[in-house]
Amino acid sequence: MQINLDFKGRHAFVFGGTTGINFGIAQAFARQGASVTVASRKRENVEAASEVLAKFGGPVHGVCADVRDFDAVGQAFAESVERFGPVDVLVSGAAGNFLCEAKDMSSNGFRVVVDIDLVGTFHVLRQAYDHLRKPGASVINITAPQSFVPMRYQAHASAAKAGVDQLTRVLALEWGGDGIRINSISPGPIEDTEGFRRLMAPTEQDRAAAQAHVPMHRFGAVDDIANLALFLGSPYAGYISGSLIPCDGGGALESVKTALELAGRSASAASKSA
Ligand code: NAP
Ligand code: COA
Repeated sequence: MQINLDFKGRHAFVFGGTTGINFGIAQAFARQGASVTVASRKRENVEAASEVLAKFGGPVHGVCADVRDFDAVGQAFAESVERFGPVDVLVSGAAGNFLCEAKDMSSNGFRVVVDIDLVGTFHVLRQAYDHLRKPGASVINITAPQSFVPMRYQAHASAAKAGVDQLTRVLALEWGGDGIRINSISPGPIEDTEGFRRLMAPTEQDRAAAQAHVPMHRFGAVDDIANLALFLGSPYAGYISGSLIPCDGGGALESVKTALELAGRSASAASKSA
């Protein structure tokens, strides 16, 4: 069998697609010829990402929208579908995170992460539904290992991403009959990303400890996740739905540890010394 990942004439929409892993996914679809829409909050991110994506030669549309704003998310879909037609591949990856012990976390600190990661994912999927190609669309949620392996200082993100995983499963049940597939990718530590720099490897010592902790003894690259997204978006994954697929060098087989934990520090000790 010859593998052909040609997305020419197909519409890939990446929510939270202007930096890091999700931007890498958007670039991969642009490289394969897709018409690409990216959306996120900050105008400067949307403009910079759109400029890079346009260099691949295909049509690109950038939209400013916060996933917490249901109407703005709906408007983003209406605009992009008018330009590029129904969405063939939808990636929902907007997220926010910080390290904090639950006993020190404010109600608003917990809520803001749940609002972005979980409620925001619902907004994206709910507003996308009418605009997804039926049959044929592939929806990809970006989750995280702490959704299924407990991780210290991550009460908010663990709870939110666990909710995202259950949304993936429930919507695979509800939307399967429309010919829509929906899956979650769980990235391991992916180098050169905000999540990695701030949460996993703020210092060289943290970086070395985190690397040793991955069974494959290497960090992931953005392209490791982008390649999996291309596969899930393609007809080669045509019978895969409702799955949570780790792309993490085997990392989720170990307990997930934060940089602080690997370095033997606690969140409260770290914040006192900061
Ligand atoms: P990142 O560079 O900070 O990407 C987050 C993206 O989401 C940005 O485009 C950001 O753009 C957008 N965003 C944030 N809040 C938003 C909101 N309220 N509304 C709309 N867009 C919003 O992070 P990353 O490290 O690459 O992480 C990407 C995804 O991978 C996340 O879902 C994360 O949980 C997951 N993940 C990452 C790692 C890792 O090693 N990095 C590991 C496991 C899972 P604006 O600031 O312009 O809004
Ligand atoms: N420790 C403890 N609490 C924190 C915190 C930290 N490091 N950072 C933020 N908070 C709390 C704030 O104190 C505030 O709670 P309060 O009102 O009770 O004081 C609450 O979280 C909201 O903070 P705010 O800065 O107003 O939220 P925001 O909407 O501007 O930003 C975040 C959301 C905090 C998630 C921010 O980190 C963000 O936008 N991140 C996006 C990028 C990202 O995290 N990428 C990695 C993805 S894995």
